[in-house]
Amino acid sequence: MRIDVLTILPELLEGPFSHSILKIAREKGLVEIHVHNIRDYSTDKHRSVDDYAFGGAAGMVMLIQPIESLILHLKAQRTYDQIIYMTPDAKVWNQKMANHYSMYNNLMILCGHYKGVDQRIRDHYITAEVSVGDYVLTGGELAAAIVTDSIVRLIPGVLSDESSALTDSHQDGLLSPPVYTRPADYNGWKVPGILLSGNEKLINEWRENQSMEITRRVRPDLLDED
Ligand code: ADE
Repeated sequence: MRIDVLTILPELLEGPFSHSILKIAREKGLVEIHVHNIRDYSTDKHRSVDDYAFGGAAGMVMLIQPIESLILHLKAQRTYDQIIYMTPDAKVWNQKMANHYSMYNNLMILCGHYKGVDQRIRDHYITAEVSVGDYVLTGGELAAAIVTDSIVRLIPGVLSDESSALTDSHQDGLLSPPVYTRPADYNGWKVPGILLSGNEKLINEWRENQSMEITRRVRPDLLDED
């Protein structure tokens, strides 16, 4: 898979893409992540990337020209499965979407800033709009990092069996059961006895019950979803 991220703050994305699972996935050649600075594509002598909003609304709007030039430059080289725009006014990203997107070959992710991008970029180039939650971030970069991370870890071969994504919270629509490691008794705080029983069937049943109980208590909305 190849992911191209379009941003006015490339430095913000260096960290998240250079550590842990994303680093390993890149080193294994399972994903290529390219971060592009929108400002480099501005034809303006001041290299501007934004301007005042028509109609007098507060806040700046990202200009069409540098974004369009960069999108066209990338599209000339390959076909993109999706051109995603990170914005709080969109459907909220979830595990089901991450699973779906992990099967694509080429993704472009545009990070918004200020009041967002000129609507005409959305109308003419964007194929998917994604929010990471009902709150407003300063820009789309951290949101793009979240979406990228959740996709890349699902690409076959990225996670070892040990850290398999199959048992993650949300993967089956439920939250994960609690986990414990040694020692079995820490100052009187005991691990549930069943986990030490060696009875795989009972342990699995216990885990399923815990998942259901925690989901019902913390996120009952998940049980209502299709
Ligand atoms: N940009 C600003 N806030 C955002 C959010 N919640 N999701 C995605 N992009 C954003």
